[in-house]
Amino acid sequence: MPGLRIERMELEHLDEVLEIERASFPTPWLRQAFLSELCNNPVAHYYVGLVDDRVVGYGGMWVILDEAHITTVAVRPDFRGRYIGERLVRHLLAEARGLGAKRATLEVRSSNTAAQSLYRKLGFASRGVRKGYYSDTNEDAVIMWCTLENELPRSRGQAAAWKRGRGKGAARSGD
Ligand SMILES: CC(C)(COP(=O)(O)OP(=O)(O)OC[C@H]1O[C@@H](n2cnc3c(N)ncnc32)[C@H](O)[C@@H]1OP(=O)(O)O)[C@@H](O)C(=O)NCCC(=O)NCCS
Repeated sequence: MPGLRIERMELEHLDEVLEIERASFPTPWLRQAFLSELCNNPVAHYYVGLVDDRVVGYGGMWVILDEAHITTVAVRPDFRGRYIGERLVRHLLAEARGLGAKRATLEVRSSNTAAQSLYRKLGFASRGVRKGYYSDTNEDAVIMWCTLENELPRSRGQAAAWKRGRGKGAARSGD
């Protein structure tokens, strides 16, 4: 997605984040949940994707010792399919690695094949199921893990730059 900037989530982003949240999840987080993550949780790291200063997606994680736990990722419905989700998750994983994380985990609804494909593309693999984890629909959670000790699979842009002989430095880390 040309023109996508990834920045730390700030309080001023919350109105737009909540709009995306409501459009993305059956039981959306309320403002208080994001406030608590941004203001009171020292292990929380949240980012927004911006296009022309509009929030088009966001993602967050907790990093505790050498483990990152991705807590949320969502993209505005009209901006999906443009590699914004992928850029956000790559960014989270690169930041997590920079903070010393050696592996990352997340839970995803068993019916959410789009998100599972995204995570698998970035090196996650399914490592278990939590039965009935989502109380709103009684749906199972697939637990996925990824090791951060190896390079992430390259994005298409990075791969193209590499082939053109510009090497690793052609793309910013995490994008
Ligand atoms: C999951 C979500 C974040 C993906 O964001 P996105 O920006 O639309 O996805 P991207 O364009 O970055 O897609 C990257 C990869 O994800 C996978 N993917 C994304 N959408 C997909 C779909 N509808 N069906 C199958 N695979 C899909 C593909 O592997 C894709 O790569 P490819 O096109 O090279 O095969 C987005 O659909 C969303 O916000 N969903 C609602 C919230 C949600 O479910 N969040 C995850 C909670 S665990």
